[in-house]
Amino acid sequence: MAEQKPGKSETSEFQAKVLAAYARIRDEIIRTPLEFSSVLSQELGSQVYIKWECDQKTGSFKLRGALNKLRTLAAGQKRRGVVSASTGNHGLALSYASKLEGASLTLFLPVNAVPEKIQKIEKYGVDLKFYGTSCEQAEIHARRIAEETSRAFISPYNDYDIIHGQGTLGIEIFEDLSGVDDILVPIGGGGLIAGIGGYLKSLKPSVKIWGVEPTNSAFMKASLAAGRLVEIQEKPTLADAVAGGMEPGAVTFPLCQAYIDGILAVSENGLKSAMRRLYDTHAKIVEGAGALPLAGLVKARRRFQGRKAVLVVSGGNIAPDLFSKLTRAYKRRS
Ligand SMILES: Cc1ncc(COP(=O)(O)O)c(C=O)c1O
Repeated sequence: MAEQKPGKSETSEFQAKVLAAYARIRDEIIRTPLEFSSVLSQELGSQVYIKWECDQKTGSFKLRGALNKLRTLAAGQKRRGVVSASTGNHGLALSYASKLEGASLTLFLPVNAVPEKIQKIEKYGVDLKFYGTSCEQAEIHARRIAEETSRAFISPYNDYDIIHGQGTLGIEIFEDLSGVDDILVPIGGGGLIAGIGGYLKSLKPSVKIWGVEPTNSAFMKASLAAGRLVEIQEKPTLADAVAGGMEPGAVTFPLCQAYIDGILAVSENGLKSAMRRLYDTHAKIVEGAGALPLAGLVKARRRFQGRKAVLVVSGGNIAPDLFSKLTRAYKRRS
């Protein structure tokens, strides 16, 4: 991993694109706090900083990429409207951003999408359609519809404008903590980690970028080990937002090969425990995907001793009843 080092001109071009994305979106996004966690630092033996991106508008980092993408479209493309597919957070962010930009959105979701997220999306009055039982099926269908109707398809991750938008998190992290040693980032399609990794490695090549994924859906781990995108046998995971693989030819994969230093795969128990810990230590309600970085840090804590580690808590959209079920279970045991 991190073997195919990008050239200097490639990294500075990436950096420039992320900076341009930030100029495009910063009036609308929240500059989320980077908080030093004294409790977790003491417990885990490293200096733990948390980037609370669950406090971003629409409850996840996804607004950064979605808004950057919409603001790079030509006026005619915006007028025709856009098409996308998402199991939730990207859909939510794109719904918000498309309303803001005056672009109509047709959004495809798999029939088994999380009800909590569907209800939130419905509030934006987008043209919501259901297709297939996985994000991949919904996405393939959405692409076809976009092509047939000459509208732009907006991928949740397989798009450079989306990736550069997500990379703006890297700008804020570096501004707040230039001494950062390690950044732990959840991985789904790889847009978030590619954006942060590409930006930060261009500024500070010594920073280590760690991807965290659930063992039950560890696509990136298997794919990086094989040197190509591979199919794996998936199991259900609490980190539903990162479940599912990447589409063939995804532009995120070579970026992940270049920028990721290691993958940490975590169990469902580790994930549950990290969700409870973030609630108990910081009174934050975080969804499974958002708790992946803490679960990764706990699992590999020896590796991070004495280092400054940033956890990217990427989202907070979780059904309140599911969350309280988990935290109640925790309180009973403690
Ligand atoms: C909360 C949350 N965290 C992390 C991710 C992973 O992002 P990416 O697909 O860009 O790797 C997602 C993706 O939907 C998400 O919703």
